[in-house]
Amino acid sequence: MDVILIKKLKGFDECGKSISCFVLFCYHISSYSYLFILGKYITFILDPFQYQPVIKNQKLSFRIFSNKIVTRVFDVKKLIMDDEMNDELHTSYQFLQGKHLDSLMENTMQSLRQVFEPQLLKTTSWDTADLFKFCSSVIFETTFTSLHGNYLADDRKTFITELRDDLSKFDDKFPQLVSGMPIELLRNIKSIRMKLKKHLTTENLAKIQGWSEIIQRRQDTLEKYYTPEDIEIGAHHLSFLWASVTNTTSAMFWTMYYLLRHPEAMAVLRDEIDHLLQSTGQKKGPGLSIHLTREQLDSLIYLGNLFLSVMKKRR
Ligand code: HEM
Repeated sequence: MDVILIKKLKGFDECGKSISCFVLFCYHISSYSYLFILGKYITFILDPFQYQPVIKNQKLSFRIFSNKIVTRVFDVKKLIMDDEMNDELHTSYQFLQGKHLDSLMENTMQSLRQVFEPQLLKTTSWDTADLFKFCSSVIFETTFTSLHGNYLADDRKTFITELRDDLSKFDDKFPQLVSGMPIELLRNIKSIRMKLKKHLTTENLAKIQGWSEIIQRRQDTLEKYYTPEDIEIGAHHLSFLWASVTNTTSAMFWTMYYLLRHPEAMAVLRDEIDHLLQSTGQKKGPGLSIHLTREQLDSLIYLGNLFLSVMKKRR
């Protein structure tokens, strides 16, 4: 019997979007419920306590399914045919762990300062924006700069804004793309995807300085399997950019949403952060130059629990 494990990655249903990503996998396993959809029996494993044994089982892999999705959504064709490239690309995830994560965190903190400081130094004429737009703009610029580095040309702001808006339009159509709807039926999404891929080609990435280790490793791998001018390199970078930005944006949005609805939780969190700043000799206020190590961040128990509770609630 075919069994499909379904993981909900993003739930935007309450803010007007449909659930945007499913990961499916067929295999034999117990504890499930059936549905008959489009002529196929599908078994949903929804109990998160079942995920661990499934993931640990070496015979089980999302690869076939996720490669099909990546091909369909991002137009990455070679991944399905080339297991070696796929494996090599996956080894780059080591650069999101351990000491590499420390340096990525440093970059992120620096980018956050770069994004926030000009706003915080304003004493009048503050900008206002919807919460989701605010989260999306902070996360996009911070993540893009931390991972891909600094775009140094004069039109940096325009470049970042355009890339962010195009990624957001592309993400809006993600459910349709995943479900197999031909991209030609999705108005201008095909040209938006092409524009995004072109922004992330070898030639255009070379205009950005200070790539993170993971981007450097992925680019080195891609150059082994493609000619440098191949636009599919841009498609790989697009899939990684999408993965890094969209889940982080929704995580930040929901965390802030619940926090704003619970002032008592906000007060506890503020206290915890103030205490850490005091004990590390850092002051709040203009000219913000807060610096926290990973260890110090990990010591923020309430902040950590808030994030875990939000993840659990939005699962
Ligand atoms: C709070 C933020 C985030 C959440 C909740 C999140 C969640 C997830 C989930 C649930 C998956 C699927 C994993 C699986 O199927 O086992 C995933 C995959 C992935 N995420 Fe994230 N993610 C976040 C942030 C990031 C960031 C910041 C990056 C990059 C720097 C990233 C890169 C990826 C990649 C590359 C994959 C695909 C992994 C693969 O190919 O197997 N994610 N993420």
